[in-house]
Amino acid sequence: MASLRSIAAVAALLTNSVNAVAPPVVKRAVPALAQVINQKAFNVIPTVPPAEEFNASSPPWTPLNFTAAALKEKPFHVYDDEFLDIIGPNPTFTILAETPKDPIFHEAVVWYKKKDEMFFVQNAGNPDAGTGLNKSAAIYKISLKQADAVKNTRNAVGKVDVTLVKASFEVPNPNGAFQYKGQILIAAEGSGPKIEPALIVMNPEPPYNTTVLLNNFFGRQFNSLNDLSINPRNLDIYFTDPTYGLSNNFRPAAGMPTQVYRFNDRTGAVTVAADGFIMPNGITFSPGGKYAYVTDTGMWRNGLELLNPSSIYRFTVQEDGTFEDRKTFAFTDTNIPDGVHCDSKGNVYAGVGDGVHVYNPSGKLLGKIYTGRTAANFQFASDGRLVIMGETQLYYATIAARGDFVEEYL
Ligand SMILES: *[C@@H]1O[C@H](CO)[C@@H](O)[C@H](O)[C@H]1NC(C)=O
Ligand SMILES: *[C@@H]1O[C@H](CO)[C@@H](O)[C@H](O)[C@H]1NC(C)=O
Ligand SMILES: *[C@@H]1O[C@H](CO)[C@@H](O)[C@H](O)[C@H]1NC(C)=O
Ligand SMILES: *[C@@H]1O[C@H](CO)[C@@H](O)[C@H](O)[C@H]1NC(C)=O
Repeated sequence: MASLRSIAAVAALLTNSVNAVAPPVVKRAVPALAQVINQKAFNVIPTVPPAEEFNASSPPWTPLNFTAAALKEKPFHVYDDEFLDIIGPNPTFTILAETPKDPIFHEAVVWYKKKDEMFFVQNAGNPDAGTGLNKSAAIYKISLKQADAVKNTRNAVGKVDVTLVKASFEVPNPNGAFQYKGQILIAAEGSGPKIEPALIVMNPEPPYNTTVLLNNFFGRQFNSLNDLSINPRNLDIYFTDPTYGLSNNFRPAAGMPTQVYRFNDRTGAVTVAADGFIMPNGITFSPGGKYAYVTDTGMWRNGLELLNPSSIYRFTVQEDGTFEDRKTFAFTDTNIPDGVHCDSKGNVYAGVGDGVHVYNPSGKLLGKIYTGRTAANFQFASDGRLVIMGETQLYYATIAARGDFVEEYL
């Protein structure tokens, strides 16, 4: 027997379908910290500035009718319904730490599973970093247990310890990191003409001792190693070598093309996996290792060069570990895509000029975890916990998606 109320509801539905209004873009419930960005709303805007006025770096462009503050207030930006599955019903977002000036939350974010800690670094990449061991060769860590305890507060500055674990030219200008058989493998950019770039293994426990794994290509210095990843299928180490050491005045002129290399640490073989980049930067593999994603941040080489890529490229990794089928996967809308990582379903996350952008495996932008500032890199711990670098701010987000790891190397 229908109640009056349900009859009224049916009547309202009928009325609505008769006076059909445009359907809302997202029909599902949107979590409290999320907001929908309707891309159709800015397909046509009143004023479209020419390139010489549009500043592709910072501050980030705000879509029509949004303010920077509104974008930050609800940092999960839903560009596509699929993003709701990624963030789940109750994502959280917290500022964990902040510095007045020193960009200590910069790069090489890596999870140490045994102690549930996240390591990250400051290097001399940003002029604010200045010089000196504490600035250009500084490795820090936080406890994720402490981060979990404050995840439901928006601002937890002062509640989480940021611990300097090592400041030593044993790891000169660290910039990329990956789990390596219970230890941490770091891509170091080098410093000056005499301290060469290298792949260096660090013990994640005191005394944080190190062992150099590779420091040359048949006797030649690399330019300034930037980032690395291990392919889960062949366990080889793939790493990128742009010239940011030269851009930032701490390395001499480049001696080799800017390439992606492959290192088999069991046989010692070093080969080139791909070239044709301006600044090959972040690198990661899809779950299972079939695809490689490499970012090219050539738009920032020596200042802004707008004709250069700020793009993510996808390669198919063949059974023998070589790369083929270079494909332009995404061109990012805000500054450059730096660090890149996949979740366990193969969605691709990139650290960009306004936060972390998330693409599905077809390169469709699903959404952003918006920080409003450069997020050079970020990293998953298990169970959808994400630590995001923001130079002078450190963020912690929890979402439904899970990270993808080379399990036996954790
Ligand atoms: C943006 O704001 C203007 C002025 O308030 C309004 O006329 C317009 O409809 C809004 N556009 C969208 C897409 O909401
Ligand atoms: C872009 O904006 C930033 C910050 O407002 C400024 O420092 C930079 O010089 C601008 N770049 C260009 C090319 O206008
Ligand atoms: C480097 O950092 C450590 C730990 O904070 C501090 O004790 C030391 O004085 C710093 N050294 C320099 C040269 O700033
Ligand atoms: C650190 O030192 C220990 C004890 O000598 C050694 O077993 C370990 O392999 C070293 N780790 C690194 C990364 O050098």
